[in-house]
Amino acid sequence: MAKPKRRYICQACGSVASRWQGQCADCGEWNSLVEDAPQTVFSSKHDLSSGGRPIQFTPLDQPGEVPKRRASGIAEFDRALGGGLVPGSAILMGGDPGIGKSTLLLQVSAHIAQSGGRSVYVSGEEAAGQVRLRAERLGLSKAPIQLAAATSVRDILTTLGTMESPALLVIDSIQTMHSDQIEGAPGTVSQVRGCAFELIRYAKETGVTLVLVGHVTKDGTIAGPRVLEHMVDVVMSFEGERSHQYRILRSLKNRFGPVDEIGVFAMEGDGLAEVGNPSMLFLSGREEPMAGSAVFPAMEGTRPVLVEIQALIVRLQSGATPRRAVVGWDNGRMAMLLAVLEARCGLNFSSAEVYLNVAGGYRLSDPAADLAVAAALISALGDKPLGNDAVWFGEVSLAGEIRPVAHASIRQRESAKLGFGRAVGPAGGPGGETKTEKGFRFTGLTMLPNLVDRILSDA
Ligand code: TYD
Ligand code: MG
Repeated sequence: MAKPKRRYICQACGSVASRWQGQCADCGEWNSLVEDAPQTVFSSKHDLSSGGRPIQFTPLDQPGEVPKRRASGIAEFDRALGGGLVPGSAILMGGDPGIGKSTLLLQVSAHIAQSGGRSVYVSGEEAAGQVRLRAERLGLSKAPIQLAAATSVRDILTTLGTMESPALLVIDSIQTMHSDQIEGAPGTVSQVRGCAFELIRYAKETGVTLVLVGHVTKDGTIAGPRVLEHMVDVVMSFEGERSHQYRILRSLKNRFGPVDEIGVFAMEGDGLAEVGNPSMLFLSGREEPMAGSAVFPAMEGTRPVLVEIQALIVRLQSGATPRRAVVGWDNGRMAMLLAVLEARCGLNFSSAEVYLNVAGGYRLSDPAADLAVAAALISALGDKPLGNDAVWFGEVSLAGEIRPVAHASIRQRESAKLGFGRAVGPAGGPGGETKTEKGFRFTGLTMLPNLVDRILSDA
């Protein structure tokens, strides 16, 4: 047997290093590397005499039991999960503090409990009294949830072992759990990983759906253990701006369904309300056309969502370095688009501060947003309002071409339905020449300079 290797694990991001360093090479956190328990390294040669037992192979088409999903009773939650809770699965839910994870999971637990399933809610962050107060505020204090404030995984699993296993087990949060089998304080990578491992094993053995709440670091990853993402079946993130009302539940990984559907909620005085038809949410009250604002018909899974993109350009007196700030879109993508506008269209942003904002706290991930962002930037630069009745979509390449995108016709149909009169998008792509609702016009463009001409010459 080879000598055990030392290894060091970053407590912030979970990356592994072979020697100790003051700063993690991956996430840049200081003093976060901690030596892990030594790993045993086996020699690479194996034969049956070394004690391994032969494993069984089975064909893929073996008739097996398809686990039946359980609807949680909160349709937007089920939609984001791909159709309800899968028994025996483990779900990791991340999100900024205060975004509403505990509120949502308490509502889900209550729904399940009220529809005859048993749900256990273990809070490691709040005292039982606090959770009870919240339930009262949500109007759920009558729901037969089994509530506990506990942090010891051994106690939790021992208790669950003595009773009939529940349909849903919520652990809020995994960072507060600790196991006495493992060294280290709660929240360290080895603790989080070990606790999650024990809880997931319990879920798989008993067919309980397990939801682990995970904290999120500054850069948006689920704190500490990125390793957790590999261990669970579903990774969800609960997003939104705390100061805005709307929240989006997205699945980032799903072993049992698609990852492109979202659930939309509004945070109200009495908890999270479902928003069944979100297409209008992210449009600000639009009356007068304003320079720098463009509407983008985004696709979230199979649903179109119209969002308003706002750009502001401030000319600087010479000298100072201009700022670029983006809220709700990818920073690098905006830098790329600005570069393309400069290099291919001759526009000059170099001495200007550029601010981009996606209204309503929405976060755009659809690549078709390029054209709408470009339209907002050009409109802001030239101080030319785009007109209230148009939507913009299309992908922009480094060469300045406007590339076709998926779902062109759904985007247009939804825009027409919401009262828009025209769309500007990629020419020639599928759906480019669509016959949409009466009166709805589509303009196809091939190159970004066409867009610039159109906006800057169009009064
Ligand atoms: P919470 O679920 O505790 O967030 P998390 O578990 O993700 O940290 O949500 C806390 C916020 O939600 C709190 O700042 C107030 C707000 N809230 C409401 O607006 N309405 C409500 O009915 C509840 C329960 C919370
Ligand atoms: Mg919480």
